[in-house]
Amino acid sequence: MTRVAVLTSGGDAPGMNAAIRAIAKVGAGRGIEVLGVEGGYTGLIGGRFRSLTRMAGERLLPERAVDLALGEGGTILGSSRSDAFLTEEGRAAAGAALEGTAGLVVIGGDGSLRGAHALATETGVRVVGVPASIDNDVGCTSLAIGVDTALNTIVEACSKISDTARAHRRAFVVEVMGRQSGYLAMASAVTAGADAVLFREQGRVATVIVDSVEQVIRQSFDGDSGKRRVLIIKAEGVELAATDLVDSLNERLRDLDGVEARAIVLGHLVRGGSPSYLDRMIGGRLGLMALYTLAEGGGDEMVAWRSPLEGGVATLDSRVQRFPLERVAAESEALLDGSSPVMQRRMQMMETVEGVLAL
Ligand code: F6P
Repeated sequence: MTRVAVLTSGGDAPGMNAAIRAIAKVGAGRGIEVLGVEGGYTGLIGGRFRSLTRMAGERLLPERAVDLALGEGGTILGSSRSDAFLTEEGRAAAGAALEGTAGLVVIGGDGSLRGAHALATETGVRVVGVPASIDNDVGCTSLAIGVDTALNTIVEACSKISDTARAHRRAFVVEVMGRQSGYLAMASAVTAGADAVLFREQGRVATVIVDSVEQVIRQSFDGDSGKRRVLIIKAEGVELAATDLVDSLNERLRDLDGVEARAIVLGHLVRGGSPSYLDRMIGGRLGLMALYTLAEGGGDEMVAWRSPLEGGVATLDSRVQRFPLERVAAESEALLDGSSPVMQRRMQMMETVEGVLAL
């Protein structure tokens, strides 16, 4: 194996650069040339490669820019959501562009990894996936790259919002990313000190949502709880817009003197920023094992971040295990439709804490 390619695809996630860096450094150390694909699958179809390693005399070294990117959010390779890659012709062109390489590492979320599986099965290219998405909606892995940084950003933002909210006795609805997945909302609720949390998977209609939030605000401001702020974390996937929710609330709360609801959408702020320790570590270790998986002749697989000693094909790293991409896709689907035991456990836990959040 002398040459491999790597790309980042879909929504960027802090820690993607740590994975790219690990692949370039370990590749260089093992005498493997590493090609970076610019702009995700779109760039792959267009054959847009740049070398992430270089010859220095007799030695193969990583490009310095790759090393320097360790602490940067986003992705130095660029990313895309490629319509062309959704077609068989597009994937055939992508496969052809990889001729002369021993395989491809795809760093991305659910959709990107489904694309990786299609590429592997249709073209025979050896592809290894690395889960990276702040949404944490990828099956078989307990964490995807970027989730930890995104959660830290949310907690910090909520803390700042709480400061100003207390000064004015306000209720804030804070919307966090996650079009299909409520993971960020669920996981940040307790640590951000939220009084309530709203996410798509609860399956609540607008009137039920407004009723329940109104009740939380009344209980918090009406009685003798001593509260000066109410924080509601809402996932993007909940169809009721944050602004519509606060409009309905303000209409209903007119009798509560001086109490006001406001909305803030954190949006892409949550996806940026320098990766946390955990995201750098997970990125580095998954990147390393993705390269090893290719070197060992593996393909059509994903390297996953797991608790040690669980089922799955073990790797040198006790936290990293390999799973077929087909199984990853099935488990991601089950997370989405709620049939996954992982999702059922998350929902049970959220139901358990729901009643005490606002106390
Ligand atoms: O990467 C996942 C995600 O951040 C979702 O949470 C969000 O809905 C979506 O990407 C936004 O994508 P885009 O930046 O393409 O609008």
